[in-house]
Parts: sequence; structure tokens; C-alpha cells
Amino acid sequence: MKQQRRTIRDIAAAKGKKEAIICLTAYTAPVARLADPHADLILVGDSLGMVLYGFPSTLPVTLDMMILHGRAVVNASEKSLIVVDMPFGSYQESPAQAFHNAARIMAETGCAAVKLEGGSEMAETVSFLVQRGVPVIGHIGLQPQSVHSAGGYRVAGRDQQEARSILASAQALAEAGAFAVVLECMDETLAGKITKQIHIPTIGIGASAGCDGQILVSEDLLGLTPAPRPKFVKNYADLSSVIDKALGDYAREVRERIFPGTQNIYMSPDRKIRAVE
Ligand code: KIV
Repeated sequence: MKQQRRTIRDIAAAKGKKEAIICLTAYTAPVARLADPHADLILVGDSLGMVLYGFPSTLPVTLDMMILHGRAVVNASEKSLIVVDMPFGSYQESPAQAFHNAARIMAETGCAAVKLEGGSEMAETVSFLVQRGVPVIGHIGLQPQSVHSAGGYRVAGRDQQEARSILASAQALAEAGAFAVVLECMDETLAGKITKQIHIPTIGIGASAGCDGQILVSEDLLGLTPAPRPKFVKNYADLSSVIDKALGDYAREVRERIFPGTQNIYMSPDRKIRAVE
């Protein structure tokens, strides 16, 4: 039976609940189909730039890429709330630019919400979007789109001043109307404090078990991305070796002319007709 899609109200209502909100990423229809029965929320993350396209960072990801992958994930899922990342350069210039591009993402993919990186400095944009019908998830802590200005990928909030600024950002995003916020790769105590102090759900990735929800990149937890992976990733499967074995078996069978076998080819039921041809 077709299940009702989760809504942003369902996610917001899960704030402070014993059962954590389950979030996964998906960029393609096959992974979305597999993730959908297990997830409350599927994020079409701009991490696809590194995971699918082999870019060195998320910076080269374009709006058109996010829209194509977002549409595939919406089409292949039925139950999870689908959120699409706004890529670098598609929202930072002005609230109007952010609305224009968020509207394209929503109209062309059918997703229910967008996610954007940034703290207090993005609060005005978040409020602008929310007031115009675009549900938004914030993203603070390690912000991969700011890798160059941050001087690399590092754990956020380890000094007092930075921790205070991240807490203020979480509060500003919640007040601006974001319906949830991703806390990426940050000090555990800080993530716990934010979760206690703001009224919207926190979704942790390398943050704290006490967050209202957790997210991981599906390809990371399935063992499909190259090692070493960040400490916050737990490997639930090693699909790289499963795939390696299957592809190796195929290559050997082709080489040895075992594949295709008679069951894999189209033979006329009347072999004589075939012989005349
Ligand atoms: O792009 C992404 O996949 C993300 C998650 C890691 C939160 O932003």
C-alpha cells in the first residue's frame, strides 16, 4: 500500500522525542528506492559532487545537477520527505537570488524543502524563503561549501568563541523559521547544548547521539566511497567488495566465453528457421 509522505510538520513534531529522526542521503533512483522504506527524510546532498562525480569538493556542483538528481530521488521515493541542497553560489548573493533558485528546485524536482549552509549571516535569507513558501533546513558547524575560507575540513566549535558563534547561529536560524538544522562535525557538548536550547530538530552528522536525528551519506555507510572515511561514518556494509567480486566474475565469464549462456540469448523456438537465416 502506498504510504503517505512525511511532511515538514512530521519532522518538526519529532523534536525532543525518544525516537530519533532517520535521515539518509540519496542522489539516484536506485539508492532512493532502497533508502525510502527506512528513512523519514532523504537529502539530495551536494556531497554528490564528491561521491558521484569525483570532484575535489562540493564547490563545482551546479543548480542543474541538483535539479536532475532531485527529480530522480523524488520520482523513486514515496514515503520520505525529500530535501534538496542548494549548491554553492545559488543562494549567498541575496535573498532574491536564493528565492529564485529555491523556487526552481522545488518546481522542477517536486521536493518539499531545501537545505542551505550558513549561520546568522543567512538568517535573513532563510526568513525570506520561509515567508514565501520555501521550507528550509539550515546547516552549521563544518560547512563543506566554505572549505577554503575555513582552511580545510575540521571539527567545529572547539574553542569558546567559535562555539558561542555556532550556538548564536543555531538560534538565529530557528528564529528565522528553519524547520530543522544540520549540525555537522562539531564538538559533542556544543551539539548537545544546541539541541537543548533551540525549538527545532537538530540533525547530527559527526555531532552528538543526543541530536534529534542523524544523517549519513548512504554511499559512506554502505562502503562505496574510498577509505579513509571520516571518523563519524560507521560502515554497515562493504558493498565495494561485493561489487568488485560481481564485476570480476562477469569479466572472467566473458573472457572464457561462459557468458552469455543459452538462457541469456534469444533463439527461435524453431531452430530450422534460425538455420535458414
Ligand atoms: O551534502 C550532504 O550530503 C550533506 C550531508 C552530509 C548533511 O550536507
